[in-house]
Amino acid sequence: MKDVTLATWLSLAGQLGLLILFLRSLRRTLVEGWCWFWAVLDLWLVTLVVGHLNLLSLIFAPLMLASEIGLPQDIISNIRTGSTLHDIGKLCVPAEILSKPGKLSEMEFSIIKSHPQVGYDIIKRIEFPDIVAQMIVQHHERLDGSGYPYGLSDRDIIIEAKIIAVADVVEAMSSHRPYRPALGIEKAIDEINMNKGTLYDETVVDLCTRLFKEKRFKFD
Ligand SMILES: [Fe+2]
Repeated sequence: MKDVTLATWLSLAGQLGLLILFLRSLRRTLVEGWCWFWAVLDLWLVTLVVGHLNLLSLIFAPLMLASEIGLPQDIISNIRTGSTLHDIGKLCVPAEILSKPGKLSEMEFSIIKSHPQVGYDIIKRIEFPDIVAQMIVQHHERLDGSGYPYGLSDRDIIIEAKIIAVADVVEAMSSHRPYRPALGIEKAIDEINMNKGTLYDETVVDLCTRLFKEKRFKFD
């Protein structure tokens, strides 16, 4: 034992540290992979249940909006994760409610309204950046406080959630749903512009409108 020098101990400590870092990153990769698996499964199931869903647009449009605003790359990367996972809480909503062709009862609507919080609770347990969980819980909040689950108002809603909210509304209105046919992109753009500044962020709406009208961005 007397041959073991301080340098040897330091080297062993360094190797142990590297091993711990490796195991932690392996765990993170496995957990994230598991979560992505559920997110893709979720999007696929929702597509099966509600019909046509513009998967690419749900992810691509928020990214385009974020880059038009000039947000830094790390925020854009988080938005990519958040927009992919934003409806993961719908895994807990029964398919018969998601696919119901008629009007939802109050109870059914309250179950649907729980999905941002359920999604937050799922993601919070996983090592995604905290901002991703915030995007998920806030994506149905509206500037005037009429959204859910918390009725947050403008200054309490993060820009990432405001971006996902606008892209989500445009995607939903321009796609077919079991309870109505697709309303079309023009109607969707009219809707966000009519509620610009009251429900939806002005800058995000203006950029989204430009994206579709001037740059001829398409959801399909
Ligand atoms: Fe949602």
